[in-house]
Amino acid sequence: MNQNNDLNNSFVLEFNKVSLKIEDKEILKDISFKVKRGSNTFIMGPSGSGKTTILKISAGLIFPTSGNIKILNKDISNINDLYEIRKKIGFVFQYSALIDYLTVLDNILLPLKIRNKYDFKKNYKTYLEKVLEILEKLDLKGVEKYYPNSLSGGMQKRVAFARAIISNPEIVFYDEPTSGLDPIISNSIDKLILSINKNFNITNIIVSHDVNSALNISDYIIFIYKGEILFKGTIHDLKNILHNPNNYDTHLPIIKDFFYSIT
Ligand SMILES: Nc1ncnc2c1ncn2[C@@H]1O[C@H](COP(=O)(O)OP(=O)(O)OP(=O)(O)O)[C@@H](O)[C@H]1O
Ligand SMILES: [Mg+2]
Repeated sequence: MNQNNDLNNSFVLEFNKVSLKIEDKEILKDISFKVKRGSNTFIMGPSGSGKTTILKISAGLIFPTSGNIKILNKDISNINDLYEIRKKIGFVFQYSALIDYLTVLDNILLPLKIRNKYDFKKNYKTYLEKVLEILEKLDLKGVEKYYPNSLSGGMQKRVAFARAIISNPEIVFYDEPTSGLDPIISNSIDKLILSINKNFNITNIIVSHDVNSALNISDYIIFIYKGEILFKGTIHDLKNILHNPNNYDTHLPIIKDFFYSIT
């Protein structure tokens, strides 16, 4: 591979000067960032700052007013490319979003059923084996026959993870994967996200306001506030900023307020 290809390959998601206006309200303001392949990248910020909007734009569910977005080196404004890109990304939605009247098995099979409409039946045995293998890796062995309602919140989250990775994506987006879970379960979810990154070679993009999770597993953090990026960097960079007595950045109080628990 030549050097150029290497460079092109090192980022899986790029936002370049992206803005979004809905009825005169500026939801995102001139946002630029890059997500490194193989990283666990956190998009953080208080409620209403625009985090979920960034995910929706990345999925091509809404289009920005200006700017451009590349996923796996393809511009998502090209509809043909968007279709191909969608095959390579997985989503874990806020509140898991499992379908109550389908068993765990059928919930996880759903993306394969939708994508492989015509040969689903023919490949069923292979798909089933794959689901069982993933369930085992995610410590969910034996739950395939249950309905989501009979599982705990943490287990439902893990089923949602299984569904997101069943079609071998290169990137998985998570919207608030630890919200509503106690600290112990949250820690186990963090570990699982990390194992998805390592064992399945997946770049994780995690929307969160859980500072603890970021401390545990982030390689890179993008902090967004009222639609603007106020910080991009590693935990190490963040600590330097927070503890530098000569930092007079006007945004510092907002960043400090959000990351107050980092010492
Ligand atoms: N379709 C829409 N029409 C108008 N305003 C919207 C729309 N979608 C989002 N917004 C506004 O955009 C802003 C960002 O919303 P978004 O859902 O991205 O925030 P968030 O950071 O994910 O918040 P939370 O942490 O509460 O999930 C909010 O002020 C929201 O009210
Ligand atoms: Mg949100």
